[in-house]
Amino acid sequence: MTKPFIQDLVNDMTLDEKLAQLTQLGPYYWGLDDTVDLTGPFKELNIEPQVIKSIGSVLNGIGARNVIELQTRHLESSRLKIPLIFMADVIHGYRTILPIPLAMGCSFDLDACEQFAEVAARESAAAGIHLTFSPMTDLVRDPRWGRVMETSGEDPYLNARVTESMVRGYQGKDLKEPGRIAACVKHFAGYGAPEGGREYNTVDMSTGVLREFYLPAYKAAVDAGVAMVMAAFNTIDRIPSSGNSKLLRGILREEWGFDGVTIADFNSVNELVPHGAAQDGREAALKSLVAGLDIEMMSTHYLNHASSLVQEGLLDLRLIDEAVTRVLELKDALGLFDNPFKDADPVADEADKPSPEHLQAAREMGARSIVLLKNEGGVLPLKRGMKIGLAGPFATSINVLGGWAGTEKDPAVSLYTGITGKIPAADLLTAMTGELGSMLEGVFDVEDASEAAYEQLKDCDVILAAVGENQQDTGEGGSKASLRLSANQEKLIHRLKATGKPVVTIVFSGRPLELAPVLESSDALVQAWFLGTESGNSIADVLFGDYNPSGRLSMSFPYSVGQIPVYYNAYQTGRPYDPQYPNVRYVTRYLDIPNDPLFCFGYGLSYSTFAYSGFTVEAAADGKVLASIQVENTSEVTGKETVQLYIRDVTASVVRPGKELKGFKQITLAPHEKQTVSFEITRDMLMFYGQEDQLVFEPGDFDIMLGANSGDHSTQRIWIG
Ligand code: BGC
Ligand code: BGC
Repeated sequence: MTKPFIQDLVNDMTLDEKLAQLTQLGPYYWGLDDTVDLTGPFKELNIEPQVIKSIGSVLNGIGARNVIELQTRHLESSRLKIPLIFMADVIHGYRTILPIPLAMGCSFDLDACEQFAEVAARESAAAGIHLTFSPMTDLVRDPRWGRVMETSGEDPYLNARVTESMVRGYQGKDLKEPGRIAACVKHFAGYGAPEGGREYNTVDMSTGVLREFYLPAYKAAVDAGVAMVMAAFNTIDRIPSSGNSKLLRGILREEWGFDGVTIADFNSVNELVPHGAAQDGREAALKSLVAGLDIEMMSTHYLNHASSLVQEGLLDLRLIDEAVTRVLELKDALGLFDNPFKDADPVADEADKPSPEHLQAAREMGARSIVLLKNEGGVLPLKRGMKIGLAGPFATSINVLGGWAGTEKDPAVSLYTGITGKIPAADLLTAMTGELGSMLEGVFDVEDASEAAYEQLKDCDVILAAVGENQQDTGEGGSKASLRLSANQEKLIHRLKATGKPVVTIVFSGRPLELAPVLESSDALVQAWFLGTESGNSIADVLFGDYNPSGRLSMSFPYSVGQIPVYYNAYQTGRPYDPQYPNVRYVTRYLDIPNDPLFCFGYGLSYSTFAYSGFTVEAAADGKVLASIQVENTSEVTGKETVQLYIRDVTASVVRPGKELKGFKQITLAPHEKQTVSFEITRDMLMFYGQEDQLVFEPGDFDIMLGANSGDHSTQRIWIG
C-alpha cells in the first residue's frame, strides 16, 4: 500500500517533474563549483538548467560536506521539497578499502561477507551516501574479463550466499537505521558472460543456462530484500537488458515479485541506439520505460521524450507513475523525507584515519581471502629469525588497493611494511623491487640487474617474489587476452629459483592469472589478490602463520588461456575424457594442453592437513537424505577446513552439470581433532529448470560428493524419489 503522502506527491507532480525524478545525473550538474559554465553540458543533454531542481538522484556525489550542501541547496529550490537520493559505487569499502569481492568470495566466509558490507555501509553512510551500486553478482567464467574482480566467482550457489550476506550487511533490517545504506544488485542480467571476455561484448546463452547458472544470485538478492536492481549493458536473447521486458517485468517483477526500483547502467538507455535496438533516443526511452526500467542514468531521453510519448498515446502514464512511486518509496524507506542528510557526518567522514576496528576487520578479511596454492616442503609459514629476501614489482608497492577504490584517502600497507611489522627490518633484504610500472612494462629488465642483487638474495633462507598485474588492468574496461605475468616477472622468478633458495611467489591480481609457467620455479604460491588498505598486513599474517590460510578458490585458475572458459560445473558430454586413457583421440580434449584447470574451484591449502573418512549417505525422515563425513586435522596446528558438498543428477530430462556445489561448512579443528560434518539433502536442492523453463524435481540416481574441493572428494550414488 502506497502511503497517502507519497500518493499526494505523485498527484501534485507535473509530468516533467516525474520524468526528472526518474533521471540520475552526476553532482557536477548542480553547479556547486561556480567557476564552471554548465551551458555546454546542459546543451549536450538537451535539457534546460532549471530541470536540475526536480532531478531525483545523484551519481557518485560523495563526501558528507558536499552532500549536505548539495541537498540543502536542492531542497531550497525544489518545488515539492523532494530530497535527492545519493547513489555511489562503493564496491569494496569506502574509506577503509576492503578486499576485492572476488577475494571475499574465496573466503567462503559468509559472516565476513556480511561484515564487509557493514563496514562499507557505515563509512559510506557517514559520507552522505544512501545507496551503493553493489553487490555485483554477475557469474563469471572468463578471467580475461577485467570485472571478474567485482564478483564472487563462477558458482551460482556461492554467489547467491555471498550476495545475500552482502545485502544484509548493507541494508540491515531497516534502511533508516544509522549506518545502513540501500544496496543495488547488478548487472541484471548475465553481464559477466561477454563473448571472448571482451568488455561490453555480446552475451548470448540458452535460457536454461541463464536460469540455472546466471540468475540465481540476482534472485537471492531480491529474496534478501535488495532495494534496487541495475540493468546490464548487454543483450539477453538479442534484447539489450535496459529495454528488455521479459527480464525486467517478466522475470524480475512478475516471477520474483521484486517491488523495488530498477535503474539503468551508465548511459545504457541511450546505448539501445548503437545496439541497433532503437532508432533514436525517443524510441530508446519508450522501450526502456515499457520494459520497466525506472531510473535513467546519465542520459536524458526520458526527460526529453517521454512526455510527448504520453501525449501521443504511445506510453501509458501509469507506467511513469508506478516508477515514480517506487523511487519515492525508496526515499521514504531511507527516511529521507524526515532527515534528508541521513547519516552524513563531516566529522566522521573527514577523520584523520579510518577507525581501528574497521582496519582490523579489513586485515582479517584480507587474511581469510588469501589462497595458498602450493607449499612444497612446507616452506611456509616463514619463521621469525630467518633471513628473508624480497623481490619483485609488488614488494614495496602501495598500489594494491584494487580497482574501483577511488574513495580512499590512505595508501595501502605494502608487503614490505606488513613484513617489517613482524620482524626486524635487518632480517628482510630487498633487491630487484624495481618501480612497479617500469618493472611490469619491462623498461627495467631483470636480466640487466646487477649480479650483486642476486648475490645478496642468495644469502637469505627464503626469497619472496611479489609479482602480479597492474591494478589498473582490472575492473571495468580491463579486458586482456593474455593472462601471463609479464615476461620480465616470469624471468625474475626463474632467476630467483636459480639461486638455489626456496622461492615463495606472491601474486597480486584482480583475476586468475596463468601461473603454470612459474609453478615449477615457485616452491610456494600465494594468491594475494588486491586486499585493500591493510593488504601488506593481511599477507604478512598468512606468511608467518599468524593466520593459518583458509581461502578456497571461487574461480578456476586456467592452465592456459586457451582453455577459457574453464569452470568446474560444466555439462556432461557424450564423449567424456577419461584421464586413465590420456591418448584417446575421439573424446572431448585438447591435444596440446590438459582439460583440467591448473587449480580448480574450491581448492586451497592450509598449514594444517586434513584427512577425510567414514563417508555415509543415507535416507532420513521426510524423504530427505543425510550425507556425513568425518574430518580430522592430522597436523600439529589448528586450522580451518571448508567441507564442500557437490551433487550430480546422473540422468535427467535435460543434460546436467558433472557436479554442482550445494552446500559448504567451515570448521575449525585443533591438532588431531576430529569432527563429523553432515549435510541434509532436500528435494529443492535437486531441482533444476526443465525443458519448459520450470523448476522440476525428477526422481532418480544422484551422485553425492563430499570433500575438500571440486576436484578432491568421495562419491556415493543414491536413488532419491
Ligand atoms: C558500471 C556500473 C556502475 C556505473 C555507475 C557503469 O559504467 O558498469 O557498474 O555502477 O557505471 O558508476
Ligand atoms: C565422427 C564422424 C564419423 C564417424 C564414423 C565419428 O567419430 O565424429 O564424423 O563419420 O566417427 O567414422
